[in-house]
Parts: sequence; structure tokens; C-alpha cells
Amino acid sequence: MASKLNSKLFITRLILPAFILLFIYSTTLLYTPSHPTKSHLPISSPNLDPDPPCNLFRGKWVTDPTRKPMYDETCPFHRNAWNCLRNQRAQMGRINSWIWKPQDCVLNRVDPDGFLGLMRNKNIGLVGDSLNENFLVSFLCVLRMADEGAKKWKRKGAWRGAFFPKFNVTVAYHRAVLLAKYQWQPNDSVLSDQNGVKGTYRVDVDIPADEWANIADFYDVLVFNTGHWWGYDKFPKETPLAFYKAGKPIHPPLEMLDGLKVVLNSMVAHIQKKFPEKTLKFWRLQSPRHFHGGEWNQNGSCVFDEPLEEPQLDLWFDPSNNGVNKEARLLNYLIEAALEGTDIKILDLTHLSEYRSDAHPAIWLGKKDAVAEWGQDCMHWCLPGVPDTWVDILSQLIHYHLARG
Ligand SMILES: *[C@@H]1O[C@H](CO)[C@@H](O)[C@H](O)[C@H]1NC(C)=O
Ligand SMILES: *[C@@H]1O[C@H](CO)[C@@H](O)[C@H](O)[C@H]1NC(C)=O
Ligand SMILES: *[C@@H]1O[C@H](CO)[C@@H](O)[C@H](O)[C@H]1NC(C)=O
Repeated sequence: MASKLNSKLFITRLILPAFILLFIYSTTLLYTPSHPTKSHLPISSPNLDPDPPCNLFRGKWVTDPTRKPMYDETCPFHRNAWNCLRNQRAQMGRINSWIWKPQDCVLNRVDPDGFLGLMRNKNIGLVGDSLNENFLVSFLCVLRMADEGAKKWKRKGAWRGAFFPKFNVTVAYHRAVLLAKYQWQPNDSVLSDQNGVKGTYRVDVDIPADEWANIADFYDVLVFNTGHWWGYDKFPKETPLAFYKAGKPIHPPLEMLDGLKVVLNSMVAHIQKKFPEKTLKFWRLQSPRHFHGGEWNQNGSCVFDEPLEEPQLDLWFDPSNNGVNKEARLLNYLIEAALEGTDIKILDLTHLSEYRSDAHPAIWLGKKDAVAEWGQDCMHWCLPGVPDTWVDILSQLIHYHLARG
């Protein structure tokens, strides 16, 4: 018995780590509370590896002028507004010269051929809002380097995606901006008697949106997100969200962020219950915005040549400074709380992206009058650009977790 125990210990303590180090170099994360107010939380949350080789989410950007992106403006999966090479955004060479260096380990650049080989006969799904679509486009353009026969793919509620025939791999995005089902309701019995309410968006907190209701068996890896639509710019006072549970209005009506909490808990519970245990599940934390000098509709700008410096980050993003970009960290608190104790892995891309005020489409949107009409885009990311680093991190984590079985 004792020797069995010892050999088991030996395997977990020595052989496994050595194996991991040799064959995958590095990876995964330690849940280090990134926010001082959360430091009362246990250092390692149960959904994460208790003894990971390193944390890919903490580090710094270093520049390497010889670095080149893997794809260009001809990738067929681009979305026009994010195709910054085609739109002749200034400084694209500079933007793509930055390399994310984690503190204590190496982030490998994804090897599209090796990665698709690992994923053979498997499928990857992203579910959430346009920031996950931004992520998807980068993923598709990078993976296409290993399979030029990649074809557009759209099925099963998928908004868009691609099939890689050489490897029998599908990577797709399901648009579900609130994750929960929601619909316009012109005559709302609960709120319509209030001042100026023209109607509501009914959110059924316990029902996932149709777009991802039936995908549980199709994907082997899933990446969820929500957050950018939980704001009064999307749902102003005249057309607010109205939360329903079990088909009935929730009383008293919930404020938006309380509604988000309920939706997060209920969607996370749904995922835990309905999706197979073997499905590798990630939740991508908020992508930070970089509006400077005002909100998106108040001439907020992000025409920057350089990333932010570390000491600037709290000024921009800490909710206590009440800046226009505070909501990323604010929402992350709620998301992290909802994920505690689940097997959904946190993809904390917030911190590394916070530096990159220089890497949004800004005024280069590829359409005349777009800036006058919509303001600058300081929310989505130029492609090629920062999401390519998200792809490096995600693929390395997928590799790590699949290797561990
Ligand atoms: C392709 O992958 C799917 C799983 O996504 C599998 O069911 C199917 O058998 C595979 N096709 C081939 C030809 O291997
Ligand atoms: C429903 O709302 C519309 C406006 O959106 C209004 O014209 C109509 O009178 C309302 N009907 C009821 C039954 O309240
Ligand atoms: C934005 O800039 C334009 C042109 O400079 C100006 O006319 C407008 O008043 C500004 N809007 C705000 C909200 O500052």
C-alpha cells in the first residue's frame, strides 16, 4: 500500500511534471487574485490546476521589430471593420511587433499545423459577443495557414465559422450577446407604466439563447464570454432589460448588473449540467476598451502609437478611479464569482490586453463617415493584432489540458 502510494506520488510529483515540461514546454495558469479586494479568496480555486507550471496571464510586452504577423489582409475570414491592414491603419507594423512575455515561462507562438493535428476530428466553439467573434477571426486566419482549403461554415446556430478539411476540424462562433435568451417586448406589463419606457427587452435568465441551445454534443472545446452588452448604451432607460425567471417577471425588477449576476449563475449552472464533463470549457474575461477623453459617443479616442505602461493601468481601469473604461474589471469580479467551484477555466486575457491602447481600429474603420456616425472603435481589435496573442494562449492551454487527458 505504502509503495503504491509512493509510486503514485512519484508519478504525480516527478514524472508528470517532467513529461509536461518536456512535451509542452510550459502553460496554464495559477489563479492569482488580480484584484486587491478579492485577496480574501483562496489562492487556488478548485476549478484550476493546483500546481501549474506557470501563469501565462501575467507578464509584459516586449518589442521585436523582426516579428511579423502570420496572415495579412487577404484572409477570407476577415470582417471589414477589423481588417486594419486593408483599412491602412497607421502603425500596423509596430502593433504587431509586440510579443507577450509571461513572467515565469514561455508563451509559444501557435503552430497551426501541430495544433490542428492535435485537434483532428474535434471542434472548437466560441459563444458570446463580438469580442469573441474578433477572437474567432484571428483564430481562423491563423489556422488557415495550415490548411488553405479552409471553408466558411455556418450551421447549428453558428453565426460564422470555418471547416478545416485537412484535419476535419470546425471552429465556429455562436452569437449570443447576453448568453441568455432575450427578445424585444413592446408592451411590458411590469415596466411600461414607468416614465418614458417604450418597451423592454425580456431576458429569460434561465433559458440559454437558441443560438447555443443545442451545441453541447458538437464541440470538444468551448470558450464563453459576455459583458459588453451589459450597459446602458445598449439598453437605455427607455428600452431596458426586464428579467424573467420560470416564465414570470422577477420581482422586484432587477437592475442591470444584478440581472447579469443572475444570468451568469444560471448560464454557468446550465453549462455544468448539460455539457459533457470531457468538454474543455473556458470563460474569457472582459476585453478592455481604451476610450480616452470621453465615451465612444463623446469623441473618445484611441489614436495611440505605444501600449500603456504598467503604472497607467490602474488609472485607466480601476473602478475606484471611475474612468470611462472601468467596466472590464467591474464585470470580471462578477464573472469570477460565478465561475468559482466549476470546471470552467478562466481565460484571463484582460490584464495583458489592458496595455494595448495602441491596437484598436480607432479611426481606421474602412468606411467613410463611420467615425462620425459611430465614433472611434476602441473596443474591438485590429487583425492581425492582439487577438493573435489570445490564440497563442488558448491553443497552448488546450494543448496542455488535452495532454493531461
Ligand atoms: C470528423 O469529425 C467528426 C467529429 O467532429 C466525426 O464524427 C467524424 O467521423 C469525422 N470524420 C472523419 C472522416 O473522420
Ligand atoms: C403597445 O405598445 C404600442 C407602442 O409600442 C402602443 O401603440 C400600444 O397602444 C400598446 N398596446 C397596449 C395594449 O398597451
Ligand atoms: C466631438 O467633436 C466634434 C468635432 O470636433 C464636436 O463638434 C462635438 O461637439 C464633440 N462632441 C462631444 C460630445 O464632445
